[in-house]
Amino acid sequence: MSSSSSPPHQSILPTIPKSDLDACQLEQEHVHKVYNNIAHNFSDTRHKPWPRVVEFLRSFPSHSLILDVGCGNGKYMNIRNDLMMIGCDRSEGLLSICRDRQYQVFLSDCMNIPVPTNMFDGVICIAVLHHISTENRRLMALKEIVRLLKPGGQALITVWAKEQEVENKKSTYITNKNTKTCPVHTKNEQTNEIIIHTPRTEFQQPDCLVPWTKPTEKLLRYYHVFVKDELEHILSHISQVKIINSYNDDGNWCIIFMKMA
Ligand SMILES: C[S@@+](CC[C@H](N)C(=O)[O-])C[C@H]1O[C@@H](n2cnc3c(N)ncnc32)[C@H](O)[C@@H]1O
Repeated sequence: MSSSSSPPHQSILPTIPKSDLDACQLEQEHVHKVYNNIAHNFSDTRHKPWPRVVEFLRSFPSHSLILDVGCGNGKYMNIRNDLMMIGCDRSEGLLSICRDRQYQVFLSDCMNIPVPTNMFDGVICIAVLHHISTENRRLMALKEIVRLLKPGGQALITVWAKEQEVENKKSTYITNKNTKTCPVHTKNEQTNEIIIHTPRTEFQQPDCLVPWTKPTEKLLRYYHVFVKDELEHILSHISQVKIINSYNDDGNWCIIFMKMA
């Protein structure tokens, strides 16, 4: 991994994936390894459920079966004790935190979830798809969610937005300058390198590496930040999907859809 002081031409940053294998390697190195490494640290900063996700979960009748895809530390798993919530994630570190909390979770990649078709009344997938590095793989993940829903079931998907100012309102991510920011890298135009994003600033590119600083090391998480209507565009390739609502929630694009019979 390059250090922040390396000149761009000497850095060994990953490049935009050209194949599925490249994409797997990029996600392994800059998503899965990082989440495992930061699991406890990350979990300590993630306890406040987003109100609109809670509102979505509150819309289901008692005893509905809900899957949380990419459940992280399980912060949505105990919103209601009359729902049957199951979570899955690629990070063993985060799953073990869920298990300590007695949540029902299993290890799975969101592109291939080992569960029968038409199983769930609802699915949430919160802040996960922006870690998938090609459009085809993002489509695979959404197809998998559609497959798992019962006809009439609904899913809520949220992703980080490239636009951090919508209708003249800046997101909390941009306005909250409490976190120390450190400009770390600029794009090397000669290569296809993925740039390092400067935290708490507007995104310059849709594909970027976002630093996570631990006392002893700086880790880089891969993100594909979505532009307006990008989720709708991908979903338009899947039959059986009816979009119920789409909105921006403080720097995130969100979509609620129903699986049609
Ligand atoms: C920003 S966290 C969000 C966690 C949780 N949904 C929340 O809202 O707190 C992203 C989560 O996605 C998981 N993740 C990333 N890529 C994944 C994949 N391909 N399959 C399953 N989970 C994945 C990570 O391990 C991590 O738990």
